[in-house]
Amino acid sequence: FRSLILFGALTLFLSGCGVENMTALKPEGYGANLLFDLMMISIAIMLFVFIIVMAIYTFVLIRYRQKKGQEDYIPKQTEGNKALEMIWTVIPIILLLVLAVPTVQATFDLADTGAKNDEDAITIEVTGNQYWWHFNYKGQEITTSQDLYIPTGERVYLDLKSSDVIHSFWVPSIAGKMDTNPGENVNSMYLEAFEEGVYWGQCAELCGPSHSLMDFKVIAVSPEEFDQWVKDMQNVDPEAEPKTASAKEGQELFNNNCMSCHAIGSGGAGIAPNLTNFGNRTMIAGILEPTKENLVNWIVNPDEIKPGNQMPANLVSEEEASKIADYLLQLKHSEVTPDSAGDN
Ligand code: CUA
Repeated sequence: FRSLILFGALTLFLSGCGVENMTALKPEGYGANLLFDLMMISIAIMLFVFIIVMAIYTFVLIRYRQKKGQEDYIPKQTEGNKALEMIWTVIPIILLLVLAVPTVQATFDLADTGAKNDEDAITIEVTGNQYWWHFNYKGQEITTSQDLYIPTGERVYLDLKSSDVIHSFWVPSIAGKMDTNPGENVNSMYLEAFEEGVYWGQCAELCGPSHSLMDFKVIAVSPEEFDQWVKDMQNVDPEAEPKTASAKEGQELFNNNCMSCHAIGSGGAGIAPNLTNFGNRTMIAGILEPTKENLVNWIVNPDEIKPGNQMPANLVSEEEASKIADYLLQLKHSEVTPDSAGDN
């Protein structure tokens, strides 16, 4: 009993970890709904079996217990009972069918990405990298990373691959998860968010020392705001001159030291995150609050924050990093934020 209490406390404690909407139990999207219903069906079936088995067990314990003053004896031995055997064969078959039919339906439904080639469909190439996510909006000349903007109420299709090892793209509150494989094997899935909000995602395949830090966000905004975001992203001028002197110096430092891997505006080599409109990012490197202090720390010593990542440490001094941070943080698009940001 004591270990039960301990287990319960531990479960409560651990479930407090991480982020509130990093859960499949509060579905806010089409795929997550399907999966949630499947979970509920299997839990209902398990409860049904558990209750019946426990009822029979309790009945037998009480009915056939040794009564006071009763002698030890061997009860009457029986072998085989056709009727009972039929019952306990047929009932599991029925239960498995009840589970199998919706499971197969959901599997096909989730795999139905045929409409991704429609003219007005939004298709995004997702590339998993150690330890960040690259997003390329097909046919729109938009490349970004870490924050994936989508419109609500619409199916958005994803083509997923990896540049190094196997990762897994997982946004539990709006969709299921899908592996990203290196090589030619492209996997597909779709996202459909019902409500505006910031939905937390995680890499769900052990991929190296910073696997657990390979976070991203799906940011669902109204279709109008999404169109605005698309325009903002497409109209970025990578050469635009920053207003403050420090940010101006930062721009030059960034261009000289960082641009061989990173990019601003569309395109880029894709070997490091595209930082277009970086000032709007919900997080730095997917895991740090977007403050200047955090950004400077990240630029100077990325390996301390995300062990094993590819960004070289001490490429610039702390003073230079501070100017680069000033430059990056003022790269912003117009205010496009989900109405319910933060309370999801
Ligand atoms: Cu990428 Cu785990």
